[in-house]
Amino acid sequence: MLKKALENVLTVEESDELISAFDQIGDIIILRIPDSLSSKKRLIGETLLNEVKTARSVFYQASAVEGDFRTRDLEILAGKDTTETEYKEFGCKFIVDVKNAFFSPRLSTERERIANLIQDGEIVTNMFAGIGMFSIMAAKKKKCTVYSLDINPVASKLCEKNIAINKLVGKVISRNGDASKIINEQLVNESDRTLMLLPERSDEFLESAINTTKNNGIIHYYSHIHADKKQDARKLSEEHYLQITPVKSEILNSKIVRAVGPRYYQTVVDVRISK
Ligand SMILES: C[S@@+](CC[C@H](N)C(=O)[O-])C[C@H]1O[C@@H](n2cnc3c(N)ncnc32)[C@H](O)[C@@H]1O
Repeated sequence: MLKKALENVLTVEESDELISAFDQIGDIIILRIPDSLSSKKRLIGETLLNEVKTARSVFYQASAVEGDFRTRDLEILAGKDTTETEYKEFGCKFIVDVKNAFFSPRLSTERERIANLIQDGEIVTNMFAGIGMFSIMAAKKKKCTVYSLDINPVASKLCEKNIAINKLVGKVISRNGDASKIINEQLVNESDRTLMLLPERSDEFLESAINTTKNNGIIHYYSHIHADKKQDARKLSEEHYLQITPVKSEILNSKIVRAVGPRYYQTVVDVRISK
């Protein structure tokens, strides 16, 4: 459909390149436009807005995901200049702000995997929870309590709204601030399961993850790993975890979550810790 929409504006090769870098989140389209097409970006935006009937805005991603809050700069190309929208995933509703708080539709399979692993009755600490995607999906699916921590005030506010619209008040608890500080002050040895989805800085926060996790609890340790061969990425991330962890750990599983660059992967290692 998109190729058809753009056939008068781009060559076949140009539209192939563009479509692989296209996300639609609710009624917002976000494009990563290669430099070679930069002169046509407004025309592309207007064409897409006309053709995609469910879209209200088209933005161009003007920076990588960056900074402490893991946010990106967006420039309006066509339509309404608002970055808040509603997004639905596996029966949950979310208000997202695609510019001011981290959000990725590309993690939905991982969110479902984690929700399936949680057992009824668990206490979960989601250290870098953003707007609460993992937390809310887990609490919708299982009878668990989730502490949803994030340092970005916009993300924590949206998380509170999302807790309310999904009727999970008291089951998901949003706390704004640095995860290590909140854990040290309020959540030591509280959680059966800890998620640490800030892959760039997992090593720095591993001690805090261990602090909040009970003896025999589980940590989902995310990281970014270089691997010449894709099939080596899992093993390399397990080895890396075992090298840096200060506690006895049993590896339960590991997997590639997604590719994040050439020969560069986001991985997760699930471990049971003894302390
Ligand atoms: C990669 S995002 C993950 C968000 C969420 N888990 C998701 O999948 O939508 C990482 C999040 O960590 C938050 N963050 C960064 N440093 C933090 C810290 N020291 N304590 C708590 N949250 C932090 C950022 O604001 C961002 O929302």
